[in-house]
Amino acid sequence: MKTIIEPFRIKSVEPIRMTTRAERERLIEAAHLNLFALHADDVLIDLLTDSGTGAMSSEQWAAVMRGDESYAGSPSWYRFEEAVQRVFGLEHVIPTHQGRAAEHLLFGELGGPGKVIPNNTHFDTTRANAEDTGAVALDLPCGESLDTASDFPFKGNMDLDALRAALVEHGDAVPLVMITVTNNAGGGQPVSLANLRAVKALCDEFGKPLYVDACRFAENAYLIQQREPGQRERSLEDIVRDGFALAEGCTMSAKKDGMVNIGGFLAVRDAELARRLRERLVVTEGFATYGGMAGRDLEAVAQGLAEVLRPEYQEYRHASIRYVVERLHERGIPVVRPAGGHAIFLDAKRFLPHLPWHQFPGQALAIELYLEGGVRSCEIGSLMLGATDPATGAGKPAARELVRLAIPRRTYTQSHMDYVLEVVEAVWQRRDAIAGVEIAEAPPVLRHFTGKYRRLAAQGAAR
Ligand code: F0G
Repeated sequence: MKTIIEPFRIKSVEPIRMTTRAERERLIEAAHLNLFALHADDVLIDLLTDSGTGAMSSEQWAAVMRGDESYAGSPSWYRFEEAVQRVFGLEHVIPTHQGRAAEHLLFGELGGPGKVIPNNTHFDTTRANAEDTGAVALDLPCGESLDTASDFPFKGNMDLDALRAALVEHGDAVPLVMITVTNNAGGGQPVSLANLRAVKALCDEFGKPLYVDACRFAENAYLIQQREPGQRERSLEDIVRDGFALAEGCTMSAKKDGMVNIGGFLAVRDAELARRLRERLVVTEGFATYGGMAGRDLEAVAQGLAEVLRPEYQEYRHASIRYVVERLHERGIPVVRPAGGHAIFLDAKRFLPHLPWHQFPGQALAIELYLEGGVRSCEIGSLMLGATDPATGAGKPAARELVRLAIPRRTYTQSHMDYVLEVVEAVWQRRDAIAGVEIAEAPPVLRHFTGKYRRLAAQGAAR
């Protein structure tokens, strides 16, 4: 069969509240043009994030009922620990309430003032946790990642020459090398096994441990299977094992490829490091056998880790994202290609070329997608990643102006994807008349969460 179907039936449904364009005009104005400030039930298709927004399976809900809430030594903990060890091959498992708590623990132990931490691209919480200890977070994405139009298959790769240069320059100041799979901030693009091996070889040469940010490990494994020479016949489990055999440890947000609404962990090989991490864990998260999670959450993750590696699930997930990316591309709409693992990334710089970066084309586009069809997306461009110098008020652009349409797992169907396509296309038709936005009010850090914006006058008047 040519048609790839959702590999599930629906047992429980959640109504979507329909809104009219006039209502959305009013709602977005009341939210000061910030999509984070909308009430979620005023959104038709919510593609703000794929984190914690997926649907659990009937087996996961059954596991929730089996959850044992004993403070110490719960059977749910042992099922969770065994699942993580089986999938990742890392012995010491430290449960946390979500990914950033794992980052906080790891960098609390290995970061610190004067330290330099290289990554292909730090996710924003990873960067914030590294910098919070006084360390410098260094992004070293491969050169190919900057060209959003090329079809290079592994745009998530790390730049090996830049990594070598950083290891030479910073020497003892580098406590670890980290690599994020898939590279979320870089467009959900995968890292190849070949790149992971080359990074590991450099780590060995300089005596550094390699850590993986594993949030979307299964999506990365699927893209390796499909795109890397010699991997097509191998199982996802084997590919994951190969990748993590190179790692000294990993941080994980189970809200992505753990297929749950909350949860995470840190896993390491070194028993002594694990002991120190558990000492921190008990102060900030919880006892070693539940950390930041309830017993029922531990059960749901254990089951989710098995389901995420099912070939038919990954095939369907990537087919639905690829479908949207390829249709957009066919219609000449600028989109990051090839399709990444968890989201569709529109290239707002090419979508709205008449808007300079300081009129935030990504935010302008995200607002229009909401107005047009109630679709909520997220700007990843100069608003989120650019900076304003507090002394001069001068701004600094981000490298790219992207709008992310993140697809929650097992939540939306093919017709929802067709609807999203129609919305993007309708906005594309009237792109020349779309005006930019300016910041009315925003805090100096993480301004995209709480900032308030104003629309600039349309067309030439703004320039
Ligand atoms: N690392 C990556 C690559 C992520 O994408 C995220 C979260 C985290 C770490 C932190 O995990 O949210 O469980 O604390 N990304 C979400 C997103 C929020 O929308 O991309 P967390």
